[in-house]
Amino acid sequence: MSAPQYNADVAVLGGGPGGYVAALVAAQRGARVILIEKERVGGTCLNVGCIPTKVLTSATEFLVRAKRAGDFGVSIPQVAADLPALMAFKRDTVDQLVGGVEQLLKSRKVTLIQGTARMIKPDTFSIDDGKGGRQEVSAQRMILAPGSITATPPIPGSNLPGVVTSTGALDIETVPARMVVIGGGVIGLEFACIYEALGSQLTVLEMTPAILLGATDEAIAKRLHLMLRRRGMDVRTGAVVQRIERIGETLRVFSETNGAETATDCELVLIATGRWPNTQGMRFSELGLRMNGRAIAVDEQLATNLPNVWAIGDAIGGWMLAHKAMVDGRVAAENATGGQRQVDYRCVPNVIFTRPEVASVGLTEAQARAAGSKIKVTQFPFSANPRARILGESDGMVRLICEGGSGRVLGVHMMGPHVTDLIAEGALAVQTGATADDLAWTTHAHPTLPEAMLEAALGFRDAAIHIHSR
Ligand code: NAI
Repeated sequence: MSAPQYNADVAVLGGGPGGYVAALVAAQRGARVILIEKERVGGTCLNVGCIPTKVLTSATEFLVRAKRAGDFGVSIPQVAADLPALMAFKRDTVDQLVGGVEQLLKSRKVTLIQGTARMIKPDTFSIDDGKGGRQEVSAQRMILAPGSITATPPIPGSNLPGVVTSTGALDIETVPARMVVIGGGVIGLEFACIYEALGSQLTVLEMTPAILLGATDEAIAKRLHLMLRRRGMDVRTGAVVQRIERIGETLRVFSETNGAETATDCELVLIATGRWPNTQGMRFSELGLRMNGRAIAVDEQLATNLPNVWAIGDAIGGWMLAHKAMVDGRVAAENATGGQRQVDYRCVPNVIFTRPEVASVGLTEAQARAAGSKIKVTQFPFSANPRARILGESDGMVRLICEGGSGRVLGVHMMGPHVTDLIAEGALAVQTGATADDLAWTTHAHPTLPEAMLEAALGFRDAAIHIHSR
């Protein structure tokens, strides 16, 4: 019996933030759209990534603040995490958001097909529903959005019980007394801060000479490293993990720093050493799709080398961020429905939900200098911002990287309270080519955190007001 056939104007493979946004936008623009997803819509981000982690981040931040309630003149006699309730809240939040995306797809009349897709022709997917059933989807235009998977370094012992990836670390039944995180990148440090707040003793092993390499400005990464160490977190750089062994109930992680081996004991190990484009097993290369390593190669319009096939999100490599995938999805959907839009990656904010938070957009100081630009770096500390004082979170700063002369904002880097929200102003500045003067002459409400941005901008003319003169 031949497989049931479906036809569409646009077929989207993968229902993560890139794919579902592409499906919604293509439908908004009048196309008949089919979206193919093997699990629940929302992809890694909604189901096992950004959203559930941020539920944990926000709850543990609450916990940390509640423990400090006395500092704010509030008495809370007993503060403790309730893990089953926290897990239920995480599940409910994810379910609500996934349900919301399903409703949006329905309302735009996008057909959702559940199953694992393989490309059998450049315009046709074969879908295996996992229960012995098969369907075929043909479309005039294809958008590939298969996302990414956890990168698994060849560390002996990484499949031992108690060694988890970010997905495993999201389900917390008990709090380990000691935890080792392999990888001092974004996922590693976000989880380190979550488990630290729950009471674990943390060791972070990062093989490069710095944490958050490439994710933010060096000065900010250094400052965060110092703060984490002062809090008692053992964050080691230049530490190359050799192997993991189980000794009874204990996991022992062997790492090497400058030729010297160290063994660290713990109850839980998190492997957070990056992600790879999820492109294996879908027959892309066999059908002539040009690859760039594991990533699908695309041009500025996100077109692949195959006619009428676009690719987006984590699967094309580069920034593996949900919001970047969403913009990709909009670009590809426009181009698959007659548009001619190009991507512009000069302004992709990077937000890291550590404690304190870190956020960056545009060029770092080192990148701007390497590009040969004459620059001026201006900085303002949150310790001089009234709102940060009121919140009791005055660690951190705003750094602006400005073009010398014109003052055009090339990059904005922040560490401190709510900077993952505050970076939106920086993104707008970089995207629109605003200058430090533009920011400095924009009235910012008082007392608010964004005033730190205004003061940093005033600093371009050495005119910051609420800071002592040197
Ligand atoms: P990452 O690339 O940010 O960090 C991985 C780190 O592991 C690197 O610093 C690397 O040097 C280190 N490493 C690799 N192999 C190692 C080894 N054998 N021993 C010790 N260290 C080793 O990747 P991560 O944190 O896994 O995140 C994956 C992707 O997900 C990133 O693109 C990240 O930006 C994204 N993401 C974004 C979030 C956000 O926007 N807030 C949250 C979580 C992830």
